[in-house]
Amino acid sequence: MGTKDQLIALLEENGREFLSGEQMATKLGVSRAAVWKAVNSLREQGLPVESAPGGGYRLAPGADWLDENSVQRHLEGEYPVRVFDEVDSTNLAGKRWAIDGAPHGALLVAGRQTQGRGRLGRHFVSPPGGLYLSVVLRPRETAAASVLITAAAAVAVCRAVSELCGIELSIKWVNDLFVGTKKCCGILTEAGTGMESGSIEYMVVGIGINLTTRPVDFGEARETASSLYPGGVAPVSRAKLAARVHQRLLEAFDTLETREFLTEYRDRSLVLGKMVTVMVKCPYIAKAVEIDDEARLVVEKADGRLESISYGEISVKM
Ligand code: BTN
Repeated sequence: MGTKDQLIALLEENGREFLSGEQMATKLGVSRAAVWKAVNSLREQGLPVESAPGGGYRLAPGADWLDENSVQRHLEGEYPVRVFDEVDSTNLAGKRWAIDGAPHGALLVAGRQTQGRGRLGRHFVSPPGGLYLSVVLRPRETAAASVLITAAAAVAVCRAVSELCGIELSIKWVNDLFVGTKKCCGILTEAGTGMESGSIEYMVVGIGINLTTRPVDFGEARETASSLYPGGVAPVSRAKLAARVHQRLLEAFDTLETREFLTEYRDRSLVLGKMVTVMVKCPYIAKAVEIDDEARLVVEKADGRLESISYGEISVKM
């Protein structure tokens, strides 16, 4: 880590306490002039650093430095990371990287996307203020269906957000996370199959969390979408949140066989026990009665017959 990265780490660790130039110089083993130079350079690059009247520095509330080092610093374990200010889609970039040999757990993070991909071929609005990330997974032989991996990812995000933001999210089957009555996170799992083997070689789990996105930036989607801190300041940096989501996702992925995460998935469900519309060719209304061990939604139709849904969409009155 260079002086600038060490300095960011130091300021982050110190939170709202001021650190004098001298303290910083001693901790980093550099001169005070070097600290001063690094602080100014970081300010020029957009990091809001506050100065105390009598000397000393601290990060301004909401300071949110996003680069590979800041993500790596918070990561559990050794994984390669790529960070973009802007990218077409972290899922697309993840697939390109997977084809190029990205290992299990490789992480991509972006501050905004120009071609954010949603489920069912939709566009995912991805303005600044959101956290967009994808994780490359290399499933083992017994790889589960993508619906199960998506469910694991949903629980992983809920856990990370609960731990770092103190906000409890609900899950609308299968991949939408809600804060109150509005969607604040979407998940898209895509798979790549080997040409010769025909088996799944990699999966890319993409997660878009609306963190501080302003309502106006959602465009038409603002009726149904929201963010955790609309137009405000998050208590956690995107780098730290991305790293925690990554950690919880890999942990949940390791329990795919035992389905450990499904209990929490069911507990956080917004749809269980409610009447939902199943959005198929001929939409029908049914009661959501269960989420089975494959993370399929079991609905009871008007005639009492049960149907298990593993793909597609439902709508539910909030
Ligand atoms: C949905 O709600 O339909 C799924 C949205 C998934 C969005 C995330 S943002 C990060 C990753 N990159 C993408 O292009 N899509 C996923």
